[in-house]
Amino acid sequence: MAKPSSNNPDKIIFKGLDGVYADVTAISEVHAQEAVLTYRGYRINELAEHKTWEEVAYLIWHGELPNAKQLANFIQFEKTHRNISPTLSRLICSLPSSAHPMDRLRTAISFMGCEDIGANDHSPLGLMERSVLMFAKLPTIVATIYRTDKRMPIIEPNPKLDYIDNFFHMTLGGKPDPVIKRAFDVSMTLYAEHSFNASTFAARVVTSTLSDIYSAVTAGIGALRGPLHGGANEAVMGTLQDARDAGGVDKYLAGVFARKEKVIGFGHRVYKNGDSRVPTMTKYFHNVAKLKRREDLIALSDELAAAIAREKNLFPNLDYPAGPTYALMGFPESIFTPMFVMSRITGWTAHVMEQLSDNRIIRPLSAYNGQKPRKLPKK
Ligand code: COA
Repeated sequence: MAKPSSNNPDKIIFKGLDGVYADVTAISEVHAQEAVLTYRGYRINELAEHKTWEEVAYLIWHGELPNAKQLANFIQFEKTHRNISPTLSRLICSLPSSAHPMDRLRTAISFMGCEDIGANDHSPLGLMERSVLMFAKLPTIVATIYRTDKRMPIIEPNPKLDYIDNFFHMTLGGKPDPVIKRAFDVSMTLYAEHSFNASTFAARVVTSTLSDIYSAVTAGIGALRGPLHGGANEAVMGTLQDARDAGGVDKYLAGVFARKEKVIGFGHRVYKNGDSRVPTMTKYFHNVAKLKRREDLIALSDELAAAIAREKNLFPNLDYPAGPTYALMGFPESIFTPMFVMSRITGWTAHVMEQLSDNRIIRPLSAYNGQKPRKLPKK
């Protein structure tokens, strides 16, 4: 909402940059009114239903879906670059286990930048290669964090397995049920890209100074971590648990609204009529819940969503169905947001490349409302 600054009425403040177009992008388009999102012109629900996560990742970076040869080459590159250096593996294991997995992930990406002597390479080829390298190594980093926390031996990546089977192999140590694998694939597609959201914008701001791609991704991780952004998927299970513990949805909401708290998993800056990604993710959440015989979770989640729509005209965002889906798969809540990073790395790095292709440093103005000019006190 634009408002004149209280001290400088001639200066209009767009708090939270609400409603501001900061630049153009050809990567994705949010049609807020119709609750539609497209990646490179394709509707995300169609991509999620008919294309694999690897095809979507390729599309986000290259602007076109891959042909069979391009896809095979891309998959081969990803499979052969999953290993992280022994130093990085040791570093991850040595970080305090009290630190949140997102903090350790942020440090790991920052460290990858230190290991890469060409980190400042801004050539299109160099940027693309580093983007795909981070994409290939992130599951290994997340799995290393997960297994360190569980005090379980690290499982090396297996190049014979595809991206998703390999991630489940390195974390939970088995092959996922096809229903779970499909839901995970869909979640990766839906989380991949969302125009100028806070973490992508943070990555673009860093890039606009001509800093390196690892610094941009590190900034993206820092921004995504918060519960108002990606950290929401971790907090959603808490929302559902609190509703259950309060003895029902109505009692829970009465308390939340009285305390003027936000219900994590609801609301969105851009979508006011519902999040484009929610119907597809909800379908796959239901599939997994039915597989796990947790229809009770579907009922609770539906009841809470209906009550918040009735009371506040607020609708779920993607984190609302994604959080319980990941929980039912057997992942701990603390790695839900790192799994989001495994997907969003595609969007962030595509934006880094787009920003550099037509760069201007991002530097907004501020309307000063501090002390009037004054003299230093005499000694
Ligand atoms: N629970 C309760 N009330 C909410 C709400 C929520 N999740 N989201 C928004 N509102 C209310 C606000 O309190 C505000 O009410 P008011 O006008 O009476 O003060 C109004 O709706 C507008 O919200 P605002 O915080 O100004 O929206 P925003 O565009 O600045 O923020 C979010 C967007 C996503 C940060 C916000 O909806 C939120 O905090 N949601 C919960 C966190 C979450 O799920 N994040 C993941 C986003 S994908």
